[in-house]
Amino acid sequence: MPKPRLIKLNKIGEPSLGYISIIEENDQIPFDIKRVYWTYFTPNHIERGNHAHKTLQQLIVAVSGVIEFTLIDVKNNKQKFTLDTPDVGLYIPCGYWREIKFSHNAVLLCLASEKYDEGDYIRTFQEFIK
Ligand code: TYD
Repeated sequence: MPKPRLIKLNKIGEPSLGYISIIEENDQIPFDIKRVYWTYFTPNHIERGNHAHKTLQQLIVAVSGVIEFTLIDVKNNKQKFTLDTPDVGLYIPCGYWREIKFSHNAVLLCLASEKYDEGDYIRTFQEFIK
């Protein structure tokens, strides 16, 4: 079973010029990209996520701001990841419950292995743990 992990992304540039980071399909990430979405303007006190996916794999980048992920596996083991730099991605395999906190300026970019399908969501923790 694949595990969540931080992936260092390519970063080209220098402080005086700025940077570019790149993700190419099947290069640093172990899936084909079928969907890209981003979230923004999440108030600081709001926790998002609170679901798991049956098949979806994701690569998440905090292109701006700070995003804190708590990932929980089906045995209720918790792991925390802080995304605070745009040249690191968090790979999330299927089957992980996630709780997400954002700094107000955070922009979360998600590359996803599937198109949106509400049927792929597990929306209650009880159902997830079962
Ligand atoms: P959700 O994945 O529950 O967001 P979060 O984990 O950030 O709280 O999605 C929020 C709403 O947006 C939900 O009604 C489904 C909808 N949505 C789409 O229609 N398409 C998408 O690709 C995504 C990610 C969400």
